Amino acid sequence: MIRPILRLGDTTLQSPAEPVAALTTDIERLLDDMVETMYAAPGVGLAAPQVGVPLRIFVIDLSVGRDAKALITMINPEWVDREGMQLEEEGCLSLPGFNATVPRPARAVVRGMDRQGEMHTVAGTGLLARALQHEMDHLDGKLFVDRLRGIKRDLIVRKVRKLARAGKW
Ligand code: NI
Repeated sequence: MIRPILRLGDTTLQSPAEPVAALTTDIERLLDDMVETMYAAPGVGLAAPQVGVPLRIFVIDLSVGRDAKALITMINPEWVDREGMQLEEEGCLSLPGFNATVPRPARAVVRGMDRQGEMHTVAGTGLLARALQHEMDHLDGKLFVDRLRGIKRDLIVRKVRKLARAGKW
């Protein structure tokens, strides 16, 4: 089932998420829904808080469903390593229509549980490192605008408020 994606302004997006206590059927359904919602958007990553569930879960698929092996599921992920710096444009399904150049690690390594409850480690450079940091940020209640300098952030937040006032957000 495709779930509605929350947008900037919703408090769930701005609060740290809680660890998953057990892999229940509810969690399995949530994972299915998150993947379906990400592909439908379409997007390359989605975190549980974005669909209103304050749990430490994200999915990433840089192939957007074209390659069955490309789907990454992370439950209760932790940082293993981050190094270097890259500057590229990025967006977020919770901020449709907005992009910004965001500093991110050049290489990132994250460890967490997969859907079967097995621990796995994912290491990435370039776009994958960026996606890992972006989704980890969601679990800490941070959006990409929170990584921007004041003026750039304020510009986007002001535009969102204007859209919200016009009933277009
Ligand atoms: Ni996002």
